Amino acid sequence: MSDRIAHPGLRSRITSAEEAASLIQNGMTVGMSGFTGAGYPKAVPTALAARIQAEHAEGRPMRVKIWTGASTGPELDGALASADGIELRLPYNSDPIARERINRGEMDYLDMHLSQVAPMAWQGFLGKLDIAVIEVTAILPDGSLVPSSSVGNNKTWLDRADAVILEVNSWQNPALEGMHDIYYGTALPPHRVPIPLIRPDDRIGQPTLLCDPDKIVAIVETDSPDRNAPFTPPDASAQAIAGHLLEFLGHEVKMRRLPAKLLPLQSGVGNIANAVLTGLIDGPFHDLTAYTEVIQDGMLDLLDSGRLRMASATAFSLSPDAAHRLNADMARYRDRLILRPQEISNHPELIRRLGCIAMNGLIEADIYGNVNSTCVMGSRIQNGIGGSGDFARNAYVSIFMTPSTAKGGKISAIVPQASHVDHIMQDVAVLVTEQGLADLRGLSPRHRARLVIDRCAHPDYRDALDDYYDRALKGSFGKHAPSLPGESLSWHQRFIETGSMRP
Ligand code: COA
Repeated sequence: MSDRIAHPGLRSRITSAEEAASLIQNGMTVGMSGFTGAGYPKAVPTALAARIQAEHAEGRPMRVKIWTGASTGPELDGALASADGIELRLPYNSDPIARERINRGEMDYLDMHLSQVAPMAWQGFLGKLDIAVIEVTAILPDGSLVPSSSVGNNKTWLDRADAVILEVNSWQNPALEGMHDIYYGTALPPHRVPIPLIRPDDRIGQPTLLCDPDKIVAIVETDSPDRNAPFTPPDASAQAIAGHLLEFLGHEVKMRRLPAKLLPLQSGVGNIANAVLTGLIDGPFHDLTAYTEVIQDGMLDLLDSGRLRMASATAFSLSPDAAHRLNADMARYRDRLILRPQEISNHPELIRRLGCIAMNGLIEADIYGNVNSTCVMGSRIQNGIGGSGDFARNAYVSIFMTPSTAKGGKISAIVPQASHVDHIMQDVAVLVTEQGLADLRGLSPRHRARLVIDRCAHPDYRDALDDYYDRALKGSFGKHAPSLPGESLSWHQRFIETGSMRP
């Protein structure tokens, strides 16, 4: 038995993953820990998936609803989706097997702003939470819980669930204790009060999670790392995007619209966002801070380089190499990193107050700067909106970045009309591709269109965009944001029919 379970009364609840999984019944709603592949339970979901498979083999139905912080790992989403065990999933997914099931219409998916999940659960709109399965790194003598490599919605799941299963993961370095800041001051209107966080490094809560010991029905001991995919090394396109962005930030400092050490950085998920962080290592900025959702490899590199003073987030999202690096040296990193509940890391009030510089990836943007972050060809979910909406609307400057083409050039990321919109043009200040950067602040739609086409579109698609826009200027029903509705989505239709957007 691990010495990480220091509460004497709770030791008797240690059991096997199979026993714990048997407490989860068909149709239940299960709140699991986990955020961008960090801090998710590993043993109980795997055992649950095996049980679901066995039930299905006997011809008995068994599916559950899964709520998390964000994406998890193959042992959770992958295993349960493979077993066809998920009826509904919220609020974010990046697992390829679950993605396929959602896109085949076999699994319901609720794609939500990540800051809104906990308040929605408290308001009761999501329904009843039957059981929580939460990974922690230790249970202290007083029964309080040391969180793992993500905080996500764990506070809310522990508070709201009728029963709780804990996985105590001894792979995580015990020096994680003290890194977390769990704020218990949130409330629903009319009792809501200002959140007392003024700087990204403020600690406003406590280092541990609270849970009524009587609700803890099972404890499972584990010893395994988070399983995240490695990032692709920055290619020429990602490096060009990083270059444009650094030049823009330098210009903003020169114009005195940003301080020399910038404002707190928010960096989204994905390869491009990671590459931009890596680019900042060689940039001119020092004493940087981050108030963000996830800490990726690039953020860790930035910390190591001394350029980044501290980072606040809700989770790590690290490649296996970086996760081992962090875990081996946790005590050194602990004072410069803070993990908070996602309703605080992504809170609109705080993002607006701090004046974050938001940098997020996208699927496609239209000529006016409306951004689609989620749905390929308007209907195929890629991942989800995640925290991009929380940050984009409330940031000091909201930047979206992408290579100008996808799928070997067969898709233009700049299109006449976005086939799905997550971020309206009012929430998009700057668009960047490897071709260039369009600063859209203060511009009307018609000026935005010219700039987006000229600066961001790939040369292979620029003439076609110019041609469309020129005809829209003449033939549009209204001339505020000219559009030809019979044609504006024809690029997507062409891709669906021929496999390419090219004319
Ligand atoms: N059409 C079709 N597919 C596209 C596409 C487009 N216009 N743009 C990107 N893709 C595909 C890529 O081909 C790639 O597919 P693959 O995995 O099969 O190779 C995948 O989407 C990822 O694209 P990539 O270019 O590698 O970018 P990325 O890793 O930076 O991710 C998003 C881009 C949009 C998917 C990612 O940023 C995301 O999920 N954003 C929404 C959530 C978010 O912003 N969270 C952060 C908030 S804090």
